[in-house]
This record gives sequence, structure tokens and C-alpha cells, in this order.
Amino acid sequence: MRLFNSDCFTYRNNELYCEEIPAALIAENYGTPVYVYSKKFFTDRYKEFTEAFSEINHRVFFASKSNFNLNVIKIFADLGAGIDVNSAGELYRAKKAGVNPKDMLFSGVGKTAEEIKEAIENNVLILKAESLGEAHLINKLAGDLGKIAPIAFRVNPDVNPETHPYISTGLAENKFGISSDDTIAIFKEADALPNLDVCGIDMHIGSQITKISPYVEAVQKMAELFLKLTSDGIELKHFDIGGGMGITYDNETPFTPKELAKELVPIFKTLDCEILFEPGRSLTANGGVLLSEVLYTKKNNQKNFIVADAAMTDLLRPSIYGAYHHIQPAKIYDRNDITADIVGPVCESGDFLAKDREITISEPGELLSIMSAGAYGQVMASNYNARRRPPEIIIDGDKHYSTRSRETFEHLLFDEVIVDDLHR
Ligand code: LLP
Repeated sequence: MRLFNSDCFTYRNNELYCEEIPAALIAENYGTPVYVYSKKFFTDRYKEFTEAFSEINHRVFFASKSNFNLNVIKIFADLGAGIDVNSAGELYRAKKAGVNPKDMLFSGVGKTAEEIKEAIENNVLILKAESLGEAHLINKLAGDLGKIAPIAFRVNPDVNPETHPYISTGLAENKFGISSDDTIAIFKEADALPNLDVCGIDMHIGSQITKISPYVEAVQKMAELFLKLTSDGIELKHFDIGGGMGITYDNETPFTPKELAKELVPIFKTLDCEILFEPGRSLTANGGVLLSEVLYTKKNNQKNFIVADAAMTDLLRPSIYGAYHHIQPAKIYDRNDITADIVGPVCESGDFLAKDREITISEPGELLSIMSAGAYGQVMASNYNARRRPPEIIIDGDKHYSTRSRETFEHLLFDEVIVDDLHR
């Protein structure tokens, strides 16, 4: 079978290591399933990204929805990144990680009045507005608080990012942003409102995008709008291209930040403003794995099954997007390969981590490593079947740190009570 090796996850003497630590040691210390992240990966990817755009005035805001572990947020913030938050909950987490809201963007297609107030009171750098109605509400709430709210409109540039339909956001059929046809009129109306500082234009066309062309097409459209708006007297300070840069899960060959910069920097140079980026997955996904123990193996007259202790509750992506995550044994034995479904313990046929996957024969008690799990893994985990969400361990060289422990059964009940009156 194919083995994924990277500079942070490597095999030595047939054993998987994360940086200097054997995967088996993590499983032994913390149990399974367990998320394991490499600090070096996060650091290297962030530096690679920001260095690629060093020629222009820019700033990278880590999209914390991809991995909102407090220590992961702090690693990026300490490197100089801002943080993109998508809800009051993410704002709260980023603050707990020590991030000043002045270094945060507040995104989201359906912010509540509570969330908008929270963002204004905290003085976030920019609040995104996704409709004129939202801009009016922000204006009103800012007025009530005696403040001027800095806003950017998210424009839907109507380009096809050529990715999974569930994570495509920049097509006219998607719910996100304002239509590019209405952009000028909407910006003008909002700019006239007394409590708004309309300071940015924003896009995010989708996620897991592996081709540069949709970015070029969208950025060109948005750059035209930017120039028209500024020539009409709207003082835009920021142009935000969102995130969405794709990664290798299987055999995709995504562009590098340098390649993206080569195409986009010439367009950005025509705009007199700061360029903002909101990458999530490309900074985190391949810096994490989910380790899981094989519980049982079995076969029927059609299929082999490997029943692992990780489930859709721990890593949902295969179930909801049919997403590919490479799975490989943490220890390599000289055995044959089989084709098997790798499934979890949850009572759903949709609970699988891989279907018809070629993998070396595994035995109960052995450890599997589910790759590319550093983004949209733990953040999408649930307690279905009253399962406890897994711990998160960060490796830094030859050190391992538990940043979050496995939930306890008490955790699962902390907000529930037996109401005696109901049972009289
Ligand atoms: N900015 C905005 C406004 C976004 O909505 C997103 C992702 C990002 C930035 C970061 O995108 P990234 O660089 O991570 O692709 N759960 C799905 C992904 C949903 C992405 C939602 N928005 C998955 O597991 O593939």
C-alpha cells in the first residue's frame, strides 16, 4: 500500500513518527482515538504562505473554523497571524487563546444581533456584511453602542471553484455574500450610513480548491469592482480573498503559495490597499492525524471490514462529503494488502472512514493513522451515541503536550438535569 510521508509525519524503522515522537507512544499515553498535531507543520506552512506574498502589503488571518484548538490558534497568533472567526463562540475561543480582537475578522452568513454587538464591543478589525440588511443592522447596533463599525462586504463573484458542491461558496446559486451586480449600489448605500466605516471588499469562493484559475478569475472581477468603488469615493483599505487553498488528501496536486502569488501579486499591485487572506485547511490539515485502534476485523462474502475505535463522530468528513482520508498502519509489517471498508462503532452505515480501501492486513489491537485530519476534524466532532470527543495532543520536536483531554461522561452531562416535577 501507499504510505504518506511528510517532513512532520515519517516512518523510521517501519514505525510512524510525528516529528520526534512515535505514534505508538501517543496512543499508549493518551489512549485512542486521539488527534495528534505537529507544531512544526503549522509553523512551516504559515511562514511559507506569508513569505510567498512578502512583496505586497498583506496579512494572513488563520481561519479558526478549521481547527479551533486554543493552542493551535495561539501558535498562529504568536507567528503574527490574525484570526478569522465565524461566530461568537470562535471569538470567545480566540480571546481565550490570548488574541486581541483588533487582530480578528468576524465572518459568517447569518450573524445574530447578539454576535454583531459582541463583535462591535470587542472592536474586531473588520465585521463582514453579507447583505444590505445586515449592514443596516450593524449600523443600528453600532449607533446604539456609540461606535463606528468597520465593515467589509462579502461579494459573491459567481465563479466555479471546481470543488465539492457542499464546500463551493462563490457561485450565484450559493447563499453567501452580495451579488456582484448589486455591489456598487450596496456599497454606496452602506457608505452613506452614519455608523459604518465601509473599509473592505471580501470574497471566499470555496474550499479545497486545487486550481489557481478560479482565484484569478474571481480576483480580477473583484479588482475591477475595487477600482470602481474607490474611484467613486469609497475609501477601501482592505481586499480580502478568503481562504480555500486545497491540499493533498489522495493524489491531488494543489498549487503552492508561491505559485498562487505569482498569478495574483500583479493584480494586487494595481490596488492601493492591504490584501488579506483567510487560509484554514492549507495551514493545518496535513499537520494532523487521528490515531485509532483496530477493534475487530471480519469479512462476509462481499467485503472485508476493519472496525476501528474512531467513528464519524470523531472525523465526519468521509461520511458527509465522501471525503478521502488516507489511512495507514502506524507500524508496517510484511503482510499482504487487502481491500476493506474501515468503519467505526456508531450505529449507522454512513459511519465509515474509508470504503473499498487498499490497506495492509491489520490485526485487532494495532494502530491506524488517519491522515490529513488537522483541519475540519475535531471541530466537526459530535457526541452522537454519547461518545466522548477525543483528546488533542500537540508535538513540538521531542515533546508531546496534551492540549485537551478526552471528554468524560460528566462532561457530556454538564448542562443536563433531571427535572423532578416532570416525573411526579
Ligand atoms: N474564510 C471563510 C469565510 C470561510 O467560510 C472558510 C471556510 C475559510 C475562510 C477557510 O477555508 P479553508 O482555507 O479552510 O478551505 N467542513 C468543510 C470545509 C468548510 C469550509 C467552510 N469555510 C470540509 O471539511 O471540507
